Formats: sequence, structure tokens, C-alpha cells
Amino acid sequence: MVTAVAGCGRDALDREALVDPAACEGCHADHVREWSGSMHAYASDDPVFQAMNRLGQRATSGALGDFCVRCHAPVAVAAGLTTNGLDLDDVPRSMRGVTCIACHQVATVTALHNGGLTWSDDDVMLGGLDEPQATGGHRSAYSPLLDSSVMGSSDLCGACHDVRAGGLAIEAPYAEWAASVFADPVSGVSCGGCHLAGRDDVAARGGPTRRVHDHRMAAVDVALTPWPEILSQRDAIDRDLAGVVSARLCVYPTGGGVRVEVMLDNILAGHAFPSGVTHARRAWVTLTAEEGGVITFERGRFGPGEVIAATTADTWVMTSRFLDDGGDEVTQVWDARAIESSLLMPAVTRDPDDPRYYHAQTRSWFVAGQPERVAMSVQLEAVGLDVIDALIVDAELDPALRQRIPRHLLRGTRHEWRRDRDDSCAP
Ligand code: HEC
Ligand code: HEC
Ligand code: HEC
Ligand code: HEC
Ligand code: HEC
Repeated sequence: MVTAVAGCGRDALDREALVDPAACEGCHADHVREWSGSMHAYASDDPVFQAMNRLGQRATSGALGDFCVRCHAPVAVAAGLTTNGLDLDDVPRSMRGVTCIACHQVATVTALHNGGLTWSDDDVMLGGLDEPQATGGHRSAYSPLLDSSVMGSSDLCGACHDVRAGGLAIEAPYAEWAASVFADPVSGVSCGGCHLAGRDDVAARGGPTRRVHDHRMAAVDVALTPWPEILSQRDAIDRDLAGVVSARLCVYPTGGGVRVEVMLDNILAGHAFPSGVTHARRAWVTLTAEEGGVITFERGRFGPGEVIAATTADTWVMTSRFLDDGGDEVTQVWDARAIESSLLMPAVTRDPDDPRYYHAQTRSWFVAGQPERVAMSVQLEAVGLDVIDALIVDAELDPALRQRIPRHLLRGTRHEWRRDRDDSCAP
């Protein structure tokens, strides 16, 4: 059945026009606005990405080739507009980043890592609507790869989100998800089930009310250079991070002082926390104890601009480190021979008799004296400043960006224990 859609032009977009997200705006204004602020839109412009790719090309004498841009600029690579990403600023805006067709024209998934996707090059937009209204703009068809109520739709995300190199799992949200309870065929949630929140609205101007999906796909990163929709991205990040980790703070008397115990449980990330570029992420626990109005103990209190090393003594830092053959830390992925991680893993079983059931992690600290107040929180820095510093020196990254790297507070992990409440654990 062909229904004319009021308000939408009838002129069919040709293939060239369909490549450009701007061509969708007249009919899908919300989708375009939400996407325009996303890290998908930013993927080729991201100065940290560009600097790291530049350094990688130099360090490997070009052997890196299109490895990085295959995921960060898939449409430009397919169009032959870049082979190594050193010229991304010359690529037309319409083909930079992970654009609409990078997802909506995925034909097949050939590998669950390193950009294992093939694309169709017709005028059909694939989506999750099984009976899309006809439009003059383009043809439409249903694809289970783009229906987030289908578990298999995670494959589309996984193909780009898992990165393997030299036998190492560099980024692994898909593999982590696949091994977790979130991949359960009956009770699970796909990547899109969490990252593309649904609401009732029109999918296209003048169309019927549908379940439509938030395309901000925010998580941790925000644009570091002038970019649309930064506040909206920050709101979405703040909301998603608030309850992702559940935290418990308890204080027990012990000889000469107290034992402060922190338990962290990753409850709402469908993969590790943090995940993805874990070697860049720094999540950590801040802990302070006060006695007589004076701070007598502190761990993880990093001042603005201070580097958070993975190995900060006696501080709980959640991240990954690249190691060389000798077990020494290296900064860049192409020098890595092993990875050591301290992430919070998701639940892998719902069976309380399975020894893996209890996956929360607990650490404790001795605090001398009789503190009246102990406070904790968890924070997450998007890119470790040691990583940024290396790029400033070795790859001409603009030093002014250093102070724009976001640090997020996980609101739900703020707890305060007070002696006068007479309870071992903070409420
Ligand atoms: C002339 C208007 C118009 C333009 C321009 C347009 N679309 Fe659409 N699109 C529609 C309509 C109408 C629907 C069906 C909506 C419905 O059924 O509720 C649709 C549906 C879709 C779907 C869902 C398909 C499905 O079966 O689930 C996707 C994805 C899509 N469009 C992507 C795009 C992209 C990407 C662009 C830009 C390259 C674009 N559209 C440009 C009008 C348009
Ligand atoms: C064609 C490759 C590609 C596909 C397909 C893809 N992504 Fe991405 N995604 C990326 C890249 C590249 C980035 C990071 C860009 C940057 O920050 O430089 C990204 C970033 C993100 C982020 C933001 C993470 C942060 O740092 O804040 C989320 C969330 C995300 N993707 C979710 C998804 C989901 C869900 C799907 C499947 C529906 C998906 N992606 C499909 C390539 C892809
Ligand atoms: C149960 C909900 C849920 C599911 C399922 C889920 N995610 Fe996430 N994801 C989150 C939350 C919450 C965050 C923010 C906390 C964090 O960074 O881990 C996040 C963060 C991310 C990030 C940024 C991670 C970081 O720390 O840099 C990426 C990338 C991502 N998700 C991709 C995926 C992909 C790909 C899938 C599917 C294989 C997926 N997610 C499935 C909830 C989910
Ligand atoms: C990272 C992958 C990805 C990118 C990039 C992307 N989309 Fe989508 N889009 C999806 C997924 C997944 C769905 C289906 C969600 C579902 O039905 O469960 C979807 C659904 C849609 C729909 C159907 C209505 C809805 O909200 O479910 C439209 C229209 C659409 N997208 C338009 C666009 C436009 C326009 C762009 C570019 C400005 C774009 N998308 C970029 C993954 C993507
Ligand atoms: C398989 C696809 C893929 C490949 C190959 C890939 N990336 Fe990424 N990259 C991603 C995805 C997906 C994200 C988002 C993950 C997250 O947010 O945790 C990302 C995130 C990043 C980020 C973090 C963005 C930021 O500003 O915080 C940097 C930097 C980066 N990649 C650089 C590179 C470099 C350099 C290479 C090549 C050596 C590379 N990537 C290869 C998919 C890929």
C-alpha cells in the first residue's frame, strides 16, 4: 500500500543525496539533530582520534593503512576518499564519521570485530519498522540487524565496536555483552535496547506515531571542539552513568582505627565498566575520612589536570594497561603485546549456585583514629591525561584540549557514612 506522506517532498533522492545526513533532515529532523551531536557524527573529526591515527601511521611507517578509518570513517573509505585518515579534514562533511547509511544500509555482518560489515549501495533504507509508510524519499525495508528488540541486532554494533589487533582484544563491549546475562535470548537486552531509548513520536514528518529511537547514543565522550548538541549529550551521559554502578560503603571498628570497605557492582552496563577504549578510560574511587573537622585520610582525590595513573598506590582505578613483552607499560596499541585490566564485569549468570554469580568487587582500607565521617564516590575520566600528554608531544594534539577532557561523577555512587548514625554501612 502506498500512502502519500503529508509534508514530505515526493522527489526521490538519488544515491548521491542519500549518502548525506543533511538530506534526511526535512523528514527526519529529530533523528538528524540527535545524531549530529553523537560520537558517531564526530568519529572522523575527533582530534584525539586524528592525533592517535597520525602517530600510528608514523610509528608503523604507514602499515596501519585504513585499519582505524574503516570504523571511524567507513563511508569515506568505501567511497575511496581516504586510505589512511591523514586527510580526513578534506573529506566532504557528508561522508565524515559514522553516518546514517553506515548503519541503515548494512547488508551483512562478516565478522564481529574490526569493522566486519558490508553495505548495499541502492536507495533502500533498512530499519526496524516492519510496515514503513511509502515515501518518495527512498525505499524502505525491515532488517533484523536494525531492530533492537532482536538480540542479533547487536552484531551490527559489535562489528565496529570490538577491535582486535595482534591477537589482543583491544575493545570488547560485544564480547563482554555476549558472555553476560544481557545476551540471554529470552530475557536479554541488545546494544540498541539500552543505547537507543524508545519514545512515542513520528518516525518521519507527517507519518503515524511509532516507537522511535534516540540517536544521541551517548556514553562517555563529548566533543572537544565546537560541535552541535553538546549539552544534550552531557545530559544523556549524566543520566546513563548515574545508576550504572551500585556502591556500598561500610566502616567497621578495628585495632587503632577503622576498616573502610567499598563494594562496587556493575549492574546496568551490558558489558564491562568501563568498556570500549578501556585503555583510555580512567574510572576511580574517591574516598575521604574526616575527624575533628579535618581530613585525615584520602584516596583518589585528583586535582583538575592531575594524571590518574592506573597504578596510583592504594587507589582503586578501573582501566586497562598495555604491556610490552617484558611486562612494562606502553602507551600505544601498536606497541602492546598484552593487556591487563581492572574492570567491573557484568553478571554472567542468574544462577545463585554458580560460583560466578557473585561478581561484585570489594576493597578495604585501614584508617587510623576514629573518623566521624567517611565519604565516597566513583568518577570516570574519558581519556587519561597521560594518554593526552603523549599525543600533545608526539602527534601535535592541540594542548588546549587537555582541559576539556570530561570527568563524570556517577551520581548513584555518592555515599556518606557518619559515626553518629550508629550504623556500619552508609544509607
Ligand atoms: C521525503 C521524506 C524523506 C526523506 C528525505 C528521507 N526519509 Fe526516511 N522515511 C520517510 C518516511 C515517510 C518513512 C516511513 C516512516 C513511517 O512508516 O512511520 C521513512 C523511513 C525511514 C527509515 C525506516 C525504514 C524501516 O523500514 O524501518 C529509515 C532508516 C530512514 N527512513 C532513513 C532515512 C535516511 C537515512 C534518510 C536520509 C538519507 C532519509 N530517510 C530521508 C521519509 C523520508
Ligand atoms: C560503522 C561503525 C560503527 C557502527 C556500525 C556502530 N558504531 Fe558506535 N561508534 C563507532 C565509533 C568509531 C565510535 C567512536 C567515535 C569517537 O569517539 O571518535 C562510536 C561511538 C559509540 C558510542 C559512544 C561511546 C562514547 O565514547 O561515548 C556509543 C554509545 C555507540 N557507539 C553505540 C553503538 C551502538 C548501540 C551501535 C549499534 C546500533 C553502534 N554504536 C554501531 C562506530 C560504530
Ligand atoms: C543493559 C544496558 C546496556 C547494554 C545491553 C549495552 N550497553 Fe553499552 N553502556 C551502557 C551504559 C549504562 C554505559 C555507560 C557506562 C559505561 O561506560 O560502561 C555504556 C557504555 C558503552 C560504551 C562506552 C564505554 C566506555 O566506557 O567507554 C560503548 C562503546 C558501549 N556502551 C557500546 C555497547 C555495545 C556495542 C553494546 C552491545 C554489544 C552495548 N553497549 C550494550 C549500557 C548498556
Ligand atoms: C549507529 C547506527 C545508526 C546510525 C549512525 C543511525 N541510525 Fe537510525 N537507527 C538505528 C537503529 C539500530 C534503529 C532501529 C531501532 C529499533 O527499531 O529498535 C534506527 C532507527 C531509525 C529510524 C526509524 C525510526 C526509529 O527511530 O526507530 C529512522 C527514521 C532513522 N533511524 C533515521 C536515521 C538517520 C536520519 C540517521 C542519520 C542522521 C540515522 N538514523 C543514523 C541505528 C542507526
Ligand atoms: C573495529 C572498529 C575500530 C577500529 C579498527 C578502531 N577504532 Fe577507535 N573506536 C572505535 C569505537 C567503536 C570507539 C568508541 C569506543 C568507546 O567509546 O569506548 C572508538 C574510540 C576511539 C577513541 C576514543 C575517542 C575519544 O576521543 O575518546 C580513539 C582515540 C580511537 N578510537 C582511536 C583509534 C585509532 C588510532 C585506531 C587505529 C589504531 C582505531 N581507533 C581503530 C572503533 C574502532
